[in-house]
Amino acid sequence: MRGKFITFEGGEGSGKSTHASMLAQRLKALDIDCVLTREPGGSTGAEIVRHIILSGIAKPLGAETETILFAAARDDHVRMTIEPALAAGKWVISDRFIDSTRVYQGALGKVDMKLIRSLERVTVGATMPDLTFVLDVPTIVGLARAKSRRGSGAADRFESESTEYHDDLRRGFLVLAEREPKRIVVIDGRAPRDVVAEKIWDTVESRLLGAETAAP
Ligand code: TYD
Repeated sequence: MRGKFITFEGGEGSGKSTHASMLAQRLKALDIDCVLTREPGGSTGAEIVRHIILSGIAKPLGAETETILFAAARDDHVRMTIEPALAAGKWVISDRFIDSTRVYQGALGKVDMKLIRSLERVTVGATMPDLTFVLDVPTIVGLARAKSRRGSGAADRFESESTEYHDDLRRGFLVLAEREPKRIVVIDGRAPRDVVAEKIWDTVESRLLGAETAAP
């Protein structure tokens, strides 16, 4: 049976990476074979493109070019990592996926949604997530977390944007969730870590595991 595909989305410091990895551990404890991956990156080719994007050297080329670079990375990630794992019956958990492009490049970068949707059709096709979590935290909480995690290191290309930018980012993810309630579930990321993890687990059980055990 084909595996399930779950993505985590949200702004900086929302706790996506922590919860993606906690969910992977929990699935493994149930003997569900599971691949934990991330974007941009997640395959050899995509990690090279990640480096180019996050270093900021492509920023002067404009938002469209950045969007195309994210798409190039995603194409490799889907073909080399995600699709083979799902086809082999493994579950895939990705820290960011298409909704990040829709919000960062689309809603905020003002890149034409027609371009974004066309790139999605080419790179993702039918490999859409079965379930997406948006971890929602107020901007000041998220930025404070991202800063403390980073320590004295430099902020990356996106972390160094303004507070207003991060507010818009948060709203952008919430708008997407409203539009696709069947796929996207918003989780309040301010709650203690274990409470958030439990909410995520309950959703996975009822939406994906429940469906599986109910199947003949
Ligand atoms: P990363 O260091 O992985 O940070 P995070 O922990 O926030 O995921 O950096 C990824 C950055 O790239 C992040 O700021 C969001 C941005 N991004 C986009 O703008 N578009 C995309 O399609 C993706 C996948 C990420």
